[in-house]
Amino acid sequence: MKFRAIMGALCAAGLMCGVSAVQAAESVEVLHWWTSGGESKAVGVLKDDMTKQGYTWKDFAVAGGAGAAAMTALKTQVISGNAPSAAQIKGPLIQDWASQGVLVPIDSVAGDWKKNLPPEIDKIMHADGHYVAAPFSVHRVNWLYINKAALDKAGGKAPTTWPEFFAVADKMKAAGIQPIAMGGQPWQDLTLWEDVVLSQGAGFYKKALVDLDEKTLTSDQMVGVFDTVRKIQGYFDAGRTGRDWNLATAMVINGKAGMQFMGDWAKGEFANAGKKSGSDYICAAVPGTEKSYTFNVDSFVFFQQKGQKAATPGQLALAKTIMSPDFQEQFSLNKGSIPVRLGVSMAKFDDCAKKSYADEQVAIKSGGYVPSLAHGMAQPDAAAGAISDVVTKFMNSQQDSKSAVAALAKAAKTK
Ligand code: BGC
Repeated sequence: MKFRAIMGALCAAGLMCGVSAVQAAESVEVLHWWTSGGESKAVGVLKDDMTKQGYTWKDFAVAGGAGAAAMTALKTQVISGNAPSAAQIKGPLIQDWASQGVLVPIDSVAGDWKKNLPPEIDKIMHADGHYVAAPFSVHRVNWLYINKAALDKAGGKAPTTWPEFFAVADKMKAAGIQPIAMGGQPWQDLTLWEDVVLSQGAGFYKKALVDLDEKTLTSDQMVGVFDTVRKIQGYFDAGRTGRDWNLATAMVINGKAGMQFMGDWAKGEFANAGKKSGSDYICAAVPGTEKSYTFNVDSFVFFQQKGQKAATPGQLALAKTIMSPDFQEQFSLNKGSIPVRLGVSMAKFDDCAKKSYADEQVAIKSGGYVPSLAHGMAQPDAAAGAISDVVTKFMNSQQDSKSAVAALAKAAKTK
């Protein structure tokens, strides 16, 4: 009687109507690293959707941009037999986890996914011919965010080449504005470095960071990449050590700094702060990367639960919700990304998202659509980690570019 009374009250409040007691009782534990203002709003859309469907959302948020801390926590949970219902995993790591035999397929809710996903992305969601991951959205990594007022003081034109970039940075400096807001974690170093690799052309990027081609990795052009990174570092402030990415974004939002190199999850922070693209800030492709697009697709995988052979109703509901057109729209509006599901209307999105969408279509056709190394899309963990170590060492010491390049070629061989 008591239970029915509670269910009746929840139903009257607009929650949990028409769901069975079995569903109502299932609690879905979700491990993710979306803890900044914009990120929390975006994941909140999923939480609300699941709650409306009668599930209990158990949040397992592990702070730390790009998810290194979350991945460590996940390993501990799985090893101790407490795998969450779902976890934020992407790129080649999906296959890694699948090969451990700990994931459950979600094919039964993915009937129309193939025709609604770009083929490159559909492939990543599979292991052994089954769907094991559900994709949220597409983030473009190669963005430069610029405070509009700061840009106006520095000539008003977003830079499209490195010489233009340094000219703008010098003008900001002369106007008393900190030119670049930079955070201080290895993944942020790697994000900037891969931007500069991409500025050498998508072909160069692919050979270097997808094929790990030794000739390209040790080329003079790669030495030039490190030289450019060193020059960019000259425009950082002294306080970047340990700084989180969203605090660096806040510096650009508040006009304390002029520019930030960051993927478009930064746009979620601008949106959360009530700032508008075009009037408060500018989003521009990183100099030299206008025709290229480093993609970063967030996804959830689903872990086998104690006593269950297949995906539970809650896990299937999560996967289904994530790929539903309404959710895809609402999530990306908050997250700064664009829907990964094809055919979702872009009408409600801002100019930056519309540009991201248009540039994505061009890049897919021209071969400029490449996976982000810094965000776990291009290489398995071991090689990506070794390359990241090389870049971070370079950016936190006085190492010369030639010896960094030698270390890079060695790191790329890590298996
Ligand atoms: C994830 C984004 C996240 C960002 C910062 C990226 O690797 O793909 O969803 O917002 O890290 O945490």
